[in-house]
Amino acid sequence: MDKATAGKKIEKLRKEIRHHDYLYYVLDKPSISDQEYDKLFNELNRLEKQFPELITSDSPTQRVGGEPLKEFKTVIHKNPLLSLDKVTSEEELREFDKRVREGLNKDNVFYFVEVKFDGLAMALNYKSGTLEKGSTRGDGVRGEDVTQNVRTLKTIPLKLNETVDIEVRGEVILPYEEFIKLNEERIENDEPKFANPRNAAAGSIRQLDPKVTVKRPLEFYAYYGTPQKGIKTQHDLIKYLNEIGFKVYLPLMYLKGIDEVIKYVNGLELKREKLPYEIDGVVIKVDDLADQEKLGFTSRAPRWAVAFKYPPMQAETVVEDIKVQVGRTGAITPVAYLKPVHLAGVVVKRATLHNEDEIKRKGIEIGDQVIVQRAGEVIPEVVKVLKHTSHSKPFKMPKTCPVCGSELYRAKGEAATRCINVSCPAQVMERIRHFATREAMDMEHVGPALIIQLVEAKLVGDAADLYSLKKQDILKLERFAERSAQKVIDSIQSAKDRPLDRLIYALGIRMVGRHVASLIAENFSSVDDLFDIDPEKLQKIPGIGPRVAESMARFFSEKENRHFIEKLRRAGVTLKSKESKGSKPLFGKTFVFTGGLATMTRPDGEELVRSLGGHPSSSVSKQTDYVVAGTDPGSKYDKAKKLGVKILTEEEFKKLVKK
Ligand code: IVH
Repeated sequence: MDKATAGKKIEKLRKEIRHHDYLYYVLDKPSISDQEYDKLFNELNRLEKQFPELITSDSPTQRVGGEPLKEFKTVIHKNPLLSLDKVTSEEELREFDKRVREGLNKDNVFYFVEVKFDGLAMALNYKSGTLEKGSTRGDGVRGEDVTQNVRTLKTIPLKLNETVDIEVRGEVILPYEEFIKLNEERIENDEPKFANPRNAAAGSIRQLDPKVTVKRPLEFYAYYGTPQKGIKTQHDLIKYLNEIGFKVYLPLMYLKGIDEVIKYVNGLELKREKLPYEIDGVVIKVDDLADQEKLGFTSRAPRWAVAFKYPPMQAETVVEDIKVQVGRTGAITPVAYLKPVHLAGVVVKRATLHNEDEIKRKGIEIGDQVIVQRAGEVIPEVVKVLKHTSHSKPFKMPKTCPVCGSELYRAKGEAATRCINVSCPAQVMERIRHFATREAMDMEHVGPALIIQLVEAKLVGDAADLYSLKKQDILKLERFAERSAQKVIDSIQSAKDRPLDRLIYALGIRMVGRHVASLIAENFSSVDDLFDIDPEKLQKIPGIGPRVAESMARFFSEKENRHFIEKLRRAGVTLKSKESKGSKPLFGKTFVFTGGLATMTRPDGEELVRSLGGHPSSSVSKQTDYVVAGTDPGSKYDKAKKLGVKILTEEEFKKLVKK
């Protein structure tokens, strides 16, 4: 192909990919499959490799993140990123409305309302529709140049749908779900947890190495753009930002008069925990842009906007007692029993205190007045002590297990104290409870109270025993009648055929949460394949670290656990993956491609390896299993030879993958 034809093809592919990025990331409405998308992307990659002089910085392939920086450059914002005046009550909101109406000499004003994102404020500068610079707000006047990093965010277009000059402002956030996943991974890697999604977002953008940022699923929401011709209202401006390529808060809310605003603000407070990301309030803006200009600014904030801050999801209460709980892995967790308190719509009676050191660090004693907090789906926790009282007394970790009485044990370097008696009834109950939960095998009518009854009546000794329960067994228990007993039996029987990732999660393996379980289920087609698994092999799955791998291997090598899985099999529980993803013949194998291939592109080859469970890599090491050498293979070939790595020709590779 000559350069001119390639150039045209490249432009066409970029346009198509941008369009699909927009549909997928901004509108949440993909119109093609991942495979079709990858095909376009790989084709573009291939052409750009062939004609590197045609690569431009706004190509969708250029999001990978460049070299690490030594420090960020300072950016002086041409127009400072202002702050917002804050109000916390309905009265103050009405006062704001009064000032606005007086300033404009109007009886009634339209307001535009959107959430106040709790992330990191950013300014993005586009010239003729191309991203030139991304900077943090900093102190409003001086920010940091983080262009390299913002380029890695899929919700920040490198090229807009229109060739405009515009500065777009908005917030980089990390959705709750991703925040939880990130912290799970950090625990696994012995890294400190992020305290909240905002810190995680800020920490991810202010990274000198863009290779770190690229791995964080950050999102950008736009809430401001420099005025554009023909746009007369805030809601049209936001609609425009959405059209040229940005995510915005939807639905667009423009409301007539402050009463409507108050109604919306109150309604949203109840729903705020259901949003996929954290907010700390609502921003109310005068909708008419000419009116905004008329009202102008004070030295620090616009007169035409105000932030209504929701009360934090925190409350003050008293620690009435501290008791310990035995988890399904034997970990002893101290729990604060609180004077019941309303917190973001629910009554909180207990809060986790995590472990002994955490109690010491926060200085919590029984009888203390404390602040408790609830974030998203997370269990409430004690944030800090307000004051000790005259009857406060320190908590002492018990020496023996509160359930089975055996001696407790805290390993050197571990935060958790444990009961190491595997047949401790508390652990048995907890394991069964975990097995039956909605996220695991989802047995709707098998709740904690029933499980305690079943274990105490010695009707079940482990979760597999649930499957052999008869209606008569349940009827023997207190509080059960014909219908309720039948419901229990039905919900157990319907939980025989759950997807593999749920089953793996349900097994309650230490350090295997839902995320890790789904990674494993993606790479294996049956629990049987995990029995003699080599931890080294498991670690080849991206996202699985040495500690998880070790924990998995140990679980499956335990005789009791194998016995438990056999019991499940005999009870008729499906241990295999439902979708037949076929086998993964290359599982755990690392491949490096070098030189030119005759019948496929390198990305195609790598994709093929991936689809069969293998792991393509770009450099040769002792860990490499195969090097596939094409024409003019170069230094990787020499290195493979030196290290004794198996070298395949393209033909041999195709035979191996049966293509
Ligand atoms: S408007 C001149 N809208 O709040 C207009 N700001 O207190 C000023 N923020 O750091 C900004 N969500 O990043 C606006 N929907 C929203 C917002 C929002 C969050 C942040 C903003 C700034 C702070 C101002």
